[in-house]
This record gives sequence, structure tokens and C-alpha cells, in this order.
Amino acid sequence: MEISSKLLPESERKYSQIANLKSLPFGLYRTDHMFLVDFKDGEWRNPRIVPYGPIEMMPGAVSLHYGQTIFEGAKAFKHADGEIYAFRVDENAKRMNVSANLVCMQTIDENLQVEAALRLMDVDRKWCPDMPESSLYIRPFMFATEDALGIRPSLEFKYCIMLSPSGPYYAGGFNHGVRLLITDRYHRAVSGGTGASKTGGNYTASLKPGMVAKECGASQVLYLDSSNTYIEEAGAMNHFHITKDGTVVIPEFTDSILRSITSISMLELLPSLGYKVRQEKIAIKEFVEQVKSGDIIEAGGFGTAAVVSPVNEYIFDDGEIIKVGNGEIGENTRKIYEAYTAIQKGTAPDKFGWLKKV
Ligand code: PLP
Ligand code: COI
Repeated sequence: MEISSKLLPESERKYSQIANLKSLPFGLYRTDHMFLVDFKDGEWRNPRIVPYGPIEMMPGAVSLHYGQTIFEGAKAFKHADGEIYAFRVDENAKRMNVSANLVCMQTIDENLQVEAALRLMDVDRKWCPDMPESSLYIRPFMFATEDALGIRPSLEFKYCIMLSPSGPYYAGGFNHGVRLLITDRYHRAVSGGTGASKTGGNYTASLKPGMVAKECGASQVLYLDSSNTYIEEAGAMNHFHITKDGTVVIPEFTDSILRSITSISMLELLPSLGYKVRQEKIAIKEFVEQVKSGDIIEAGGFGTAAVVSPVNEYIFDDGEIIKVGNGEIGENTRKIYEAYTAIQKGTAPDKFGWLKKV
């Protein structure tokens, strides 16, 4: 499908806004343009790059009432040669369609998704930042636009991509360890539900627990399955831990855990760094015992926005705090973070073929 474009004249573009900044917050800035395509009468129509701005929608649009929305998150990086490289956007395009199927939305050609993201980044390439821990964050999303009040899947959708030059997700970046709240009072997803999709409702479900976590000085909740037996996710990250013998352990993917592209990348990368890596069901009771006994030496979260975020302590509902190791950022977590971001930023070879040049 031919992508058309209606671009802002150079004089109206705003990339100079970020030119002299020393650091960037996560997700605050928008580039000058966005990509849009509409699904109507059984087909995707009119793929286009247009100035970033309001989108018209009827008040009865299904997404506004029943939350039929999905999104993705990916990143692109400016390398030392000045070129921009997007990280595994083909995987995001695939997962967009997995999400679409899980919440009865329309799938969209993966090649079109990738081409649209690359074309949009090309148009807005001056927005790609290059300060430490920064990236051009890519946010594809789809929402139901049909004006229909009965509860049934919409027949009309919009797919959109917007870009946000961003710094680290957690203020302070990698060197700021994260505290997680362990609680059995809240769940983001349940077995048989939509947890494996990136649909808006999963994130709505995490807002209140996220606030509760903040009240006790934690960045996020360590979500358990609904029987409060197994570890599922750490807010908007997959959880991981590292045992004394150097094994990295990630919870087995289930239908209530998002299949993180960072995690699947780690499954490929970590053996080449000398780590054993496995996925399994992780019982919270044993996990806590092993953190306390020192059998688990490091822990953290994997995610596009959060990259590799070290977890240095857990807090329980009753206020008890347990430290992971000595409560400092561990050397293995640092080594993994550095190896992963070196590939993203082009300072190490892209031996897995993860990067696509814009
Ligand atoms: N889990 C949840 C609930 C998320 O929202 C995310 C972020 O996308 C992740 C895990 C990490 O996934 P990825 O590495 O693909 O960004
Ligand atoms: C990402 O890591 O890209 C996410 O989607 C997490 C987020 C909700 C900011």
C-alpha cells in the first residue's frame, strides 16, 4: 500500500525544542508528524503521514466506552555514524497482531507497520536524541472508532504511530535501583483474561496498584497470579532474577504475562555472555526465602521503556523491606544492561540482526 504524506514546512517544525536539552523525560515530547491508516468497509485505507495533531472521532466510538484499544512500544537509537537504527520493530508489529486477535481487533500487515514506522522516523529524524540513555520512543497504537453502543467488536479502527524523543523511564536511569511492592491485594491480569495483550484495560487495571506502590516508596507492584502463588510481572516490565550460580530466571510466559521483546532478546543474548537462562514458574514464597537466604543475588525488570532496571528491594504490605544482595546494583545486572544497550546503540556488533536502519 502506498503511504502518502502531507508534511509541515521546515519553518513550522519544532525539533529545535529539544536541541539544547541535557536530558529528556520519558514520553513528554512529540515529533512533528504521525502515521495514520483507517480500517473501514473491511479494508485498511489511506495510509498517510500527517502533522501530529488531534484526531476526530464520534463520541460513540467503541474505544471510548469499552476500551477496545491496543498499543506497542519500541525504540530507535542514533549511532555514532549519525544514522538512526530501530530495534526489533518487526517483533512489535507481530505482537500488535497478537494483541489485535486477543481483543477482537483488526490485524494489520506487519510489513506496512514496519515501513510506516521507518518512514515516519525518516521524516522526523532530526528529533532522534543522542544524550545518554535516550532514544526515539516509537508508540504504535490502534483504537476502535465505530460509533456503536452495543457491546461487540468494532467494525472500524484507526492505527496510528507517534514518536517521542525520550530519556529513561525511571527518573535517575539505570543507576537508580527500583523498589517493588509485593502484595496479594491487586492483580493486573488473570488466567483466561487479556494480560498477554497490550490492551489499554490492562494498564487501567494497574493504575490504582501503581498509586498504592508509590505511597510506600515503590516504583511498581510485583504482580502475582490471581491465586497469589506465582510471580507474573513487575509493573510494565517482565521480572527476572539471578541466582548464586549465575542463572538468569524469567517467569514462564502465560496468558496473563506479556511476552516481552526484551525478555526474548535476553534469551538469545545471555548465553553468549556466559549466563545460563531459563523460564519457569516462580513461586513467590520460595522466591522471598531465596532472596533472604542470599541464594538469589540480583533481580530486576526487562522492558522496552525500562530496558534493564535493577530491583534492589521489595516491600510488603506490612512495611517489611527485604534487600536483594547488599541492596546495591549488582555486577551481573550491570553487565547485562551494558551488553544489551551496546547492541542497541551500535557500539557492539548486531550479531542477532536486531537493528533496522531508518
Ligand atoms: N510487561 C508489560 C505489562 C509491559 O507493558 C511491557 C512493556 O511493553 C513489558 C512487560 C516489557 O515488554 P517489552 O520488552 O516488549 O517492552
Ligand atoms: C514499553 O516498555 O514500551 C511499554 O509499553 C511500557 C509502557 C507502558 C511505557
